[in-house]
Amino acid sequence: MTTEVTFIMVKPDGVQRNLTGEIIRRFEAKGYYLRGLKLKQVERSLAEEHYIDLKSKPFYPGLVDYILSAPVVAMVFSGKNVVTMGRKLIGATNPLASEPGTIRGDLCIDVGRNVIHGSDSVESAQREIGLWFPEGLVEYKPHMLPWIYE
Ligand code: TYD
Repeated sequence: MTTEVTFIMVKPDGVQRNLTGEIIRRFEAKGYYLRGLKLKQVERSLAEEHYIDLKSKPFYPGLVDYILSAPVVAMVFSGKNVVTMGRKLIGATNPLASEPGTIRGDLCIDVGRNVIHGSDSVESAQREIGLWFPEGLVEYKPHMLPWIYE
């Protein structure tokens, strides 16, 4: 079985609203393992680099300012299909389109305050983990519970 990793960030609104525990709970309850975690006041260069693909979008300056507005919680989770499944757990970008039962569908209202980021591909995950955890991750091989994995 190939184990993927994904980068998950609780955005400033999620941290301010004390939703970090709820978000971690949802990933852990699904069966994913926490592999990296830090509370971080982001510097502008990191926020700009993280969202570099959106640089030409009209909402980019506001998005960067929002990410800088208060600390974020940066995390890495691992497990089977965690990139795709993580996006499912998170829900659509605009909370108006996110299904109830998803993190955004349950916990937020505005696209510009949508509480969480999750990598959209395995390649993005590698890039984002490299950006946010340049020190690397703790060496640790979680036990793949046979009650979760066949
Ligand atoms: P994007 O990468 O398209 O979505 P996702 O976070 O679901 O991968 O956009 C990044 C963030 O930019 C998104 O979470 C919220 C913000 N955003 C806006 O503020 N307005 C918009 O119209 C869009 C598309 C995104």
